[in-house]
Amino acid sequence: MQSTDPLERLFALGSNGRPPLILAPMAGVTDVPFRALAHRFGADLTVSEMIASQAMIRHVDRCLKQSASADPDAVRMVQIAGADPGAMGEAARMQVELGAEVIDINMGCPVKKIVGTGAGAALLKDESLAGRIMESVARAVEVPVTVKIRLGWDDTQRNGLTMLRIAENAGMRAIAVHGRTRAQMYSGMADWEAIGEIKSRAAIPVIGNGDLTTPEQALTLWKKSGVDGLMIGRAALGRPWIFREMTHFLTTGTHLAPLGLEARGTVIVSHFHAMIRHHGPRTGHLLARKHLGWFTRGMPGGAAFRDRMNHAPHPEAVLEMLDRYLNSLLQAQAA
Ligand SMILES: Cc1cc2nc3c(=O)[nH]c(=O)nc-3n(C[C@H](O)[C@H](O)[C@H](O)COP(=O)(O)O)c2cc1C
Repeated sequence: MQSTDPLERLFALGSNGRPPLILAPMAGVTDVPFRALAHRFGADLTVSEMIASQAMIRHVDRCLKQSASADPDAVRMVQIAGADPGAMGEAARMQVELGAEVIDINMGCPVKKIVGTGAGAALLKDESLAGRIMESVARAVEVPVTVKIRLGWDDTQRNGLTMLRIAENAGMRAIAVHGRTRAQMYSGMADWEAIGEIKSRAAIPVIGNGDLTTPEQALTLWKKSGVDGLMIGRAALGRPWIFREMTHFLTTGTHLAPLGLEARGTVIVSHFHAMIRHHGPRTGHLLARKHLGWFTRGMPGGAAFRDRMNHAPHPEAVLEMLDRYLNSLLQAQAA
């Protein structure tokens, strides 16, 4: 019988010969429409944008839009960020009341605005506080709680293994590890050996993250590190079908034919509509522009299209431009 525990179901995929694939939390990106898209294209789990615990407590309505899931089949995994154990517990409890099925704690965000408040990756420097936050959140809710970390603050303070111990003792059900330090921000390459070392010492499932861009890489790094799940972030921007491509390769060893232009066009247009529906015309239009930029990256005439599209006064104008642009590509393809 299938477990009702979302993480048990997720990691059971590993015994079927392939690791689960997870869409990484990305602020300003992994909103409800994008998560629904990734799920449709085979992401086994998607994580919400990070939600600041203090904001959650003060502005429930605004945060609701970020956390709720439109897709009834998708597990609602919500990431929270903050530096106060009590507020983090309270934010987690509120999220569960709103339907969250898994809570993830952000201990990896490197940006100054977050680190400056003692949250995100700053918690890697304060192991005692990190532990108290994990314990407080785990105590506050009945649903599984996970934590996402980096390898450490900088090369002199790589404490991934200590963070693993703390997470295990605090009752975390899994740990996601981005294979960089905070000091690296996004430079260099993720250190999958270090991720593998953490996995080799772990009693809880470890999710590996960092620079997974191709199906081959997913297979190689999964085998090399032995992790229980793979988390994909930037490679899914403008390419949510990467989950389907990776799943196919991990299960069959062969490549799926690339998604055709017509199918891609349909996805792009329906995502634009979904953004307007979810965020409203003004915000939806602004946020969708970013995705249109990613979707059209590398397409013929993409730069000129983006230039025009960025000056479009309203959503209808974008849709018209998009229609014209996609049709011109299809005609060129047919010629
Ligand atoms: C635009 C953007 C926003 C991000 N926001 C978050 C976030 O809210 N929470 C978090 O834990 N990580 C966040 N990250 C980090 C990603 O989850 C991931 O760890 C990182 O991008 C490395 O994975 P990748 O190489 O597959 O992109 C963000 C990354 C990007 C590019």
